[in-house]
Amino acid sequence: MMAKPLNEMYDELVRNCAPDDFWGQVKRTVGGKPVSEEQVEMIVEAVAAATALKPEDCMLDLCCGNGALSTRVFALCAGGHGVDFSEQLINVAKEHFEDAPRETYQLSDVVEFLKTCSDPGRFTKAFCYGSFQYLPQVMAGEFLAELNQRFVSVSRVCIGNVPDKERMKAFFREGAYVEGIEDQHDSAIGIWRTRKEFSDLAAVAGWRTEFRTLPEGYYASHYRYDAILSRGQ
Ligand SMILES: C[S@@+](CC[C@H](N)C(=O)[O-])C[C@H]1O[C@@H](n2cnc3c(N)ncnc32)[C@H](O)[C@@H]1O
Repeated sequence: MMAKPLNEMYDELVRNCAPDDFWGQVKRTVGGKPVSEEQVEMIVEAVAAATALKPEDCMLDLCCGNGALSTRVFALCAGGHGVDFSEQLINVAKEHFEDAPRETYQLSDVVEFLKTCSDPGRFTKAFCYGSFQYLPQVMAGEFLAELNQRFVSVSRVCIGNVPDKERMKAFFREGAYVEGIEDQHDSAIGIWRTRKEFSDLAAVAGWRTEFRTLPEGYYASHYRYDAILSRGQ
């Protein structure tokens, strides 16, 4: 279990990272080193392909972190808005990437944002990368329901880098697995879900789900998948 709330943990991480260590600030590291440009490009391409991103789209990034990934995705469309509950990460996003009105960032819990956003109709696509698994189960359901019901112009959503419960053995080293850790949103990896568990959760909120995995060259492809949500049956 994490000792402190996740937003405070990220605030502290940002304070301990170099100001320009954008990938370190969101833990996009392998063996303590930031992932390569090639790996980041794979993620950007996967999000754009999953959401069928077009130049005219307005993108919503839920749990955007410091905006380092958001800005790369927003560059492929008409712009976007990122939301995250870590004050330090949003400060970095505002300082380095905000370019209003095309690209904006907001400090908020994502479910709170989804419930209260005053102009939900302007967004046409959405993504949530490497973060959905940290929402408590009830909030995960609310997230999907609010996005479906209030953000009526959002046609496709990419929930990226979800820990795959069927691949837990490929992740935990001998003796490292702790009984029940897969259901804990506040564990280091968050909640692990099978594809069926994910699609059942999304179906309750009105979404149809398909799944993709990143190419083998991607550092986490052996235990994660991307879930792609669209409307209808
Ligand atoms: C691993 S980072 C990923 C950041 C970014 N999506 C990326 O891929 O670079 C997880 C992020 O989720 C955010 N987060 C987790 N739960 C949240 C919540 N309930 N509301 C807003 N942000 C949240 C954290 O603050 C953190 O920035």
